[in-house]
Amino acid sequence: MEKLLAHLSHLEIASPDVEASAKFYVEKFGMREVHRADGKVYLRCWGDYDTYSLVVVPGAEPALARMAWRTTSPEALEVATERIEASGIQGTWSEGGYGYGRAYEFTGPYGHPMRLVWEIEKYAAPAEFASIYPDRPEKRSLHAAAPRFLDHVTVATQDVRGFAKWYSETLGFRVMAFTELDEVPITVFSVLTTNEKSHDLGVVLDTSDRAGRVNHIAFWVDTHEDLLRTADVLMEHGTPMEYGPSIHGIGEQNFLYFREPSALRVELNSGGYRNYVPDWEPKDWKPSDGSNNFYRNSAMPHSMTESFPFADGFTATEEGASEEMKAAILNPYAQHGRG
Ligand SMILES: [Fe+2]
Repeated sequence: MEKLLAHLSHLEIASPDVEASAKFYVEKFGMREVHRADGKVYLRCWGDYDTYSLVVVPGAEPALARMAWRTTSPEALEVATERIEASGIQGTWSEGGYGYGRAYEFTGPYGHPMRLVWEIEKYAAPAEFASIYPDRPEKRSLHAAAPRFLDHVTVATQDVRGFAKWYSETLGFRVMAFTELDEVPITVFSVLTTNEKSHDLGVVLDTSDRAGRVNHIAFWVDTHEDLLRTADVLMEHGTPMEYGPSIHGIGEQNFLYFREPSALRVELNSGGYRNYVPDWEPKDWKPSDGSNNFYRNSAMPHSMTESFPFADGFTATEEGASEEMKAAILNPYAQHGRG
């Protein structure tokens, strides 16, 4: 199949309190607000090539409102659309929105709202943010915890292998790895990619019956030191680490996870390998192999299995989306009685 998708362009995430979420991303995480309209706030990292990579939109619950992928060409957008419709899914064409042109929007077979787009407005920094380096979209942020650019999105589905099959066969994602539980042959995780990154789309098993959920969104910093400094800055300013900093076995990225005010999980990565192998055969990992924790010396907190929106009756903390649970999720140490 000709290469159809180039990279993850932007994510739209719903928040019950758009202002609180946007304030967090700007003041604590070092992103920059570039636009707002219709209650939506558009945010960019200093190194995003597109105008923005994150849109916070109003919603009753934390959720993935849409993930937007840029195609490799205008022709690829048409081919991708034909392939989606041939698989039995019908989407709609949109004339575009802020920062992008004509786009095909559809809901994937496991309930995830998608947008495919070729026409992207090239970002041109205003004079005060212009870099002295020709290839930088804008100058490096002065913020101590600022991510460079959007990295990936990890969604949840009731059928991890089915999800990987559809996205690879229909849109040409390479499937890079699976994780099966040690105890029983249940596939709980997979990573897929459109390019040389080990993944730009992840998928975790969803044990709820609520389709289209998201587990986390992820950004990138250049070095492990940048990542550790971000953990330090967030800790000092009231945002606990849910998991990490550590290294994933799969992909070998440095990682940390924390929650934004809506309780949505945000990951930060650096490092990892590149993989250009066109006929890569995905291996099955087990948690005991270090799939999640390269050093095999700590278990993933159970709270990490929580996806969004909350699925009543299936939450990691089994308390629903109460204020108490949100507080517990935002402070995992208190949740585990270690505070
Ligand atoms: Fe991730």
